[in-house]
Amino acid sequence: MSELSVKHLLGIKYLKETDIQLIFETADHFKEVINRSIKKVPSLRDITIANIFFENSTRTKLSFELAEKRLSADVLNFSASQSSVKKGETLIDTVNNILSMKVDMVVMRHPNPGAGIFLSKHVNAAIVNAGDGAHEHPTQALLDSYSIREKLGDVAGKNVVIVGDILHSRVALSNIFALKLQGANVKVCGPKTLLPKYVESLGVGVETNLRKAFEWCDVANMLRIQNERLDISYFPTTREYTQQFGINKKLLDSLDKEIVIMHPGPINRGVEITSDVADSKQSIILNQVENGVAIRMAVIYLLASKIK
Ligand code: CP
Repeated sequence: MSELSVKHLLGIKYLKETDIQLIFETADHFKEVINRSIKKVPSLRDITIANIFFENSTRTKLSFELAEKRLSADVLNFSASQSSVKKGETLIDTVNNILSMKVDMVVMRHPNPGAGIFLSKHVNAAIVNAGDGAHEHPTQALLDSYSIREKLGDVAGKNVVIVGDILHSRVALSNIFALKLQGANVKVCGPKTLLPKYVESLGVGVETNLRKAFEWCDVANMLRIQNERLDISYFPTTREYTQQFGINKKLLDSLDKEIVIMHPGPINRGVEITSDVADSKQSIILNQVENGVAIRMAVIYLLASKIK
């Protein structure tokens, strides 16, 4: 397959397994490019991309911007907090005004689930979902699977546990879709109050004992508590959460195998993960960030080839 089956990247749910393989093969090429002394290719000299962020971001925003610049695209950065959205302008009006400046692609982070899907039906540009509320974060899941593939050789057949606030996590849902599509075995682990009731219908196992989850897995993806999305208390105290669902070096070293530790960031050190684990040789957290640039280059390049 030489092109994606989709015109937009709205969620992993809409991808085929062959799309993921194509993105990974393309990212392999771009990873080689960004490790050269000249880290740039002229591929998208005729493409303009707007990054519109209605929510805070460090990794995703910078990684998309760098990916676009490495591909030689023209880049517009839009932050909702400094824009006319504050004067009441709607999402569609905002984006259509940006598009009238001859923009070809929109990368959007938005607090509302489905915002990218909505936009794709109302504007004439390729849309990339950079995280929509508690729904999906497709490029994060792609870079996570790519990092597992890089570390362990393959994703198929690997046991992956996703730990923490599954209920409010777009990273969890996109990872579940991506990992299942590639043939991994997936479990989620966390307080029952933070595990969605429907999660088993996604083909995922549930484990509420962290040690048992770690004894089962090859890879543990530790998530932070999404405090900005918690409307009520889901566990008694942060201290109690950490005792039951946080990873520390003593627990990691007590396992009879070396598991791979992942985290999408931002990390709350001392809550879901201690510093000695986050910075240990078993952690691939910064490799995930590095791979994010190559994965986003691949996604943008492949989507742009469909609008040329
Ligand atoms: N992983 C991730 O989405 O991080 P940011 O919120 O900093 O973009």
